[in-house]
Amino acid sequence: TDTSLIHPSILNSDFMAIGQELDRIATADAAHVDVMDNHFVPNLTFGPSMVEQIVRRSPIPVDAHLMIEDADRTAPEFAEAGAQSVTFHLEAASAPIRLARELRRKNAAVGVALRPATPVESILDFIGEFDMLLIMTVEPGFGGQSFIDSMLPKIRRARQAISESHLNVSIQVDGGVSRSTIEQAADAGANVFVAGSAIYSAADAADEIATLRSLARD
Ligand code: DX5
Ligand code: ZN
Repeated sequence: TDTSLIHPSILNSDFMAIGQELDRIATADAAHVDVMDNHFVPNLTFGPSMVEQIVRRSPIPVDAHLMIEDADRTAPEFAEAGAQSVTFHLEAASAPIRLARELRRKNAAVGVALRPATPVESILDFIGEFDMLLIMTVEPGFGGQSFIDSMLPKIRRARQAISESHLNVSIQVDGGVSRSTIEQAADAGANVFVAGSAIYSAADAADEIATLRSLARD
C-alpha cells in the first residue's frame, strides 16, 4: 500500500560522523535508533542523552527501538528525549499496558516488539494499546543478519487479527530487510520497514531508500 514507510537503522552507521550519517537518510520516513543495554541483548549502544542529541540533529523523526531490560523504568526517558515513537520489548516489560499509556502521555507513539520466539498471540488481547507492532525478523542484537523466513506467517496472523478488530496498528519488520526480502514482508502485511546494512552499505542511501519504498508499495 502507499502507507509503507522506510526507517533506516543507524546501528551500522559511522558513529563518529553521526550528523552526516543522519543526513544520508534524510529522504526516509524516520531514523530507527537501536538502544541496547548489554543485558537484554549482548550489545551496547546509546542512552537517553545520546538519543536526545540525535533527535535534535536528525532531519527526520526518530523511531527508538529499545532492547533493554526493565522497560517499565527506562522507556519513559526516551519519550522525554523527544523520540517520535518508542518501541519496547514485550519480554522486557512487566506492565506493558501501563507503560504504553505512560509513553502516550509523554507524547510518543508507542510500539511493542516481539523477539522471533515470542508468539503474536501473546499481544493480541491488548494490541489496541499500541500504534505499532514490531515483529523481529532476526534475533535482536546485531545488524547484518539474515531475515528469518518463518516470521512471515507470524506477520500474516498479526495483520489478519488487526484488520479483524478494525484497529489502526502498523506492523514493523526489523532485521535482514533488503531488496530480496521486503516484498515478502509487505505481502504478509508489514507496512513499516527497518533496514540497516542494506541502506548504509549502499553507495547511494537515498537511491536504496527509494528502491525499497517502491518494492514495498508494489
Ligand atoms: C537488530 C536491530 C536492527 C538492525 C537491523 O537488533 O534491531 O534494527 O540494525 O540491521 P539489518 O537491517 O542489517 O538487519
Ligand atoms: Zn531495531
